Amino acid sequence: MDGIETLEKDHDRIRSLFCELEGTADPQKLQDSFDKLGNILTIHAEAEEQVLYPEARNCEGITELIDQGYQEHDKGDQMVLAIKSISPNESEFKEKVRELQEFMLSHLDEEENELFPRVRQSMNDKKLEQLGTQLKETKADVAHKVID
Ligand SMILES: [Fe+2]
Repeated sequence: MDGIETLEKDHDRIRSLFCELEGTADPQKLQDSFDKLGNILTIHAEAEEQVLYPEARNCEGITELIDQGYQEHDKGDQMVLAIKSISPNESEFKEKVRELQEFMLSHLDEEENELFPRVRQSMNDKKLEQLGTQLKETKADVAHKVID
């Protein structure tokens, strides 16, 4: 799996967790799916920031997209943090998750439609494979820290 495929797979997992959250009213299920979502968002954003963004800076015309990426990850983090302090028994929990969903899905779409194609265009197959390996290593590292 190359680097971009690895990231797209994360995006699919994020989308499916949002679907799970949308499809349940059970507080325990809401909490479980949200915990998973929070972890994967942290791991994925860290991997992008540590590996993809620094590499992608060398690609032409995408500095702005990367700066935007950092800002959106920060905003996403803050939104996740805010939801962590709300009980899944409160109706506010689902409202805030819905806001996060709207925001995050548009971030994922932007990356897939604008950033990823440009990265793919400017890297050869070998480089994309290397990116995949680095991303997997970084994700494993961060996962350790997040889950500990
Ligand atoms: Fe992403």
